[in-house]
Amino acid sequence: MDHPRYPRPLGLDPLAYGGDYNPEQWPEEVWAEDVRLMREAGVTMVSVGIFSWALLEPERGQYEFGWLDRLLDLLHAHGIRADLATPTVVPPAWFYRDHPDALPVTREGTRYAFGSRGAICHSSPAYQHAAATITEQLARRYGTHPAVALWHVHNEYGVPVSDCYCDESAAHFRRWLGERYGTLKELNSAWGTAFWGQRYTRWDDIQPPRLTPTAGNPAQQLDYARFTNDAVLANFKRERDLLHRLAPGIPVTTNFMTALSQCQSMDYWAWGREVDLVANDHYLVAEDPRSQINLAMAADLTRSVAGGRPWLLLEHSTGAVNWQPRNLVKRPGELARNSLAHVARGSEGAMFFQWRASRSGAEKFHSAMLPHAGTSSRIWREVVALGQELGKLAEIRDSLVQTDAAMLWDWESWWAQRLEWRPSVDLDARERAEAWYTASWDAHLTVDFAHPEAELSRYPLVVAPALYLTTEAAARNLRQYVENGGTLVVSCFSGIVDEHDTVHPGPHPGALREVLGLTVEEFAPLRAGAAVRLEGDGQPPLRAEAWTEFVRPEGAETLWHYADGPTAGGPAVTRHALGSGRAWYVSARLDGDGLARVLRAAAAEAGLPERRLPHDLEVVERVGEHGRYLFAVNHGAAAADLPLAGPGTELLTGADVRDVLAVPAGETRVVRY
Ligand code: GLA
Repeated sequence: MDHPRYPRPLGLDPLAYGGDYNPEQWPEEVWAEDVRLMREAGVTMVSVGIFSWALLEPERGQYEFGWLDRLLDLLHAHGIRADLATPTVVPPAWFYRDHPDALPVTREGTRYAFGSRGAICHSSPAYQHAAATITEQLARRYGTHPAVALWHVHNEYGVPVSDCYCDESAAHFRRWLGERYGTLKELNSAWGTAFWGQRYTRWDDIQPPRLTPTAGNPAQQLDYARFTNDAVLANFKRERDLLHRLAPGIPVTTNFMTALSQCQSMDYWAWGREVDLVANDHYLVAEDPRSQINLAMAADLTRSVAGGRPWLLLEHSTGAVNWQPRNLVKRPGELARNSLAHVARGSEGAMFFQWRASRSGAEKFHSAMLPHAGTSSRIWREVVALGQELGKLAEIRDSLVQTDAAMLWDWESWWAQRLEWRPSVDLDARERAEAWYTASWDAHLTVDFAHPEAELSRYPLVVAPALYLTTEAAARNLRQYVENGGTLVVSCFSGIVDEHDTVHPGPHPGALREVLGLTVEEFAPLRAGAAVRLEGDGQPPLRAEAWTEFVRPEGAETLWHYADGPTAGGPAVTRHALGSGRAWYVSARLDGDGLARVLRAAAAEAGLPERRLPHDLEVVERVGEHGRYLFAVNHGAAAADLPLAGPGTELLTGADVRDVLAVPAGETRVVRY
């Protein structure tokens, strides 16, 4: 990018605190009360106009900006900054009247209808043109408005639908393939079309991976996933470039959903490079009793796609959402814990969906900062208290999260692994990533995520939880990392295929045989519910489920072997010394305890400290110009003590602390030292 990067919303000195604000759902008399209550709650910024296209442009080319003028002036008069959206996630009904073919089509050939949101074919020239036009209007009108601090392009690209299988998309896909492969010969080779007689002799014969009677070509499907990401990203870039050109100086963002459970179709490594400020939305999986781990993982992934720099939590919820099967409330204090846990991991604030609960529409049962119950409510009291707490943390801005290790994650590999006809439905990349992440959370290690081709030398420990697709470049990178002294831990079914989902030559794991010092002769998935035992010299046994492998060491030593199951007697967990480093291989789907033990052993070997801290105490450090900030979030039901390296000041209570920090049950403390 050739424009300067603006890591923070323009003119926003405190941390960002606020939410999506949809005042168009209310009579204007309510707005005065809104801004008064926003002030009471310590709100510093709100996101406006996200779903307002139909109100701003009620018919093609007719604009009604008066209400937004008045709103932005009102916010400005009250010192509240605006994260102003381009409303391009919901084109108005008139747009579809003229362009019904801009509604996306499913793999099965069904066209979606108007009446919800996000029904967009990202290859539609009509959509692209209309989106650019409204964006241009907004940029020209509000690019110098004093309230505008940030541009919020679109909303959550990638959900609820990102891929489209219409004829326009098919033609776009063929153009994309033409650029990627140049010739049909190359494409036929990359897609392995000799298999099942799928060879193409004309570009026009190539279609998106529409519904097929049985398993479709995996390379075609993988390319379609890449194409979809690129097509959606191109639409973001078009709006971003317009905003940069017409409204220079205001940073541009869009809200990601990095939680793997929430958006699967966008490659956020690519997206992170394109936004000025990385922003994320995160919603708890309410029924998960340890949902703080999913939260931490999403936050770490967000910071990682931001290149380690601060980022912004643009949406989460004050309480229950409305779209899960059972929408559980947050427990007392959980709202603050969630917010501060995001801040600990690099967010420069905490924003919510949404400011005032809606009375109509699909989200009327979603919590808000100002709930239907009004200000006489627990949520409102917690919202006001959180505003005060965040107000005390402004000095942490720009400080950087300190991390211990890296976990490799590659969206492309995930897309490839989840295609049909893999050796077992029970081995899932996301499940493995979450399981290894949980083990690191429990070991009180703070991790970055890294792309497998990224520079890794600063990490003493690198874990690859699921790297089914491994490119030659990634393989070289990992080998070099180990040779130069790194400790690498690779989990099962990694290093198997290249970027075309073609098996690497020779025995598995083709891309990682050398670095791991072994071959895998056969995969040996287990029956549903079956488990095996792993034994190691002088070690308590480990347990694995779902997946085992026949491993033949070629230089690696065996740390644990299979005591039973189809691979009984064979190596299960191995370690290979290479150069001045070591590469561990875990050939089974270990259970949580097993993972924790292997991870701790590898971390100790990598020289990482063993942190003996209370189990439910989340401890993260940010370091900045004004000092080091230790965040301690106590998710447990009992008070927890955290030993301190030196004296400091606790920022939320103002207390001086030394030696030991007492963190009451359910609360958070932030020490500057
Ligand atoms: C997403 C959207 C919001 C809202 C919330 C509800 O994050 O961006 O508009 O629908 O979900 O949880």
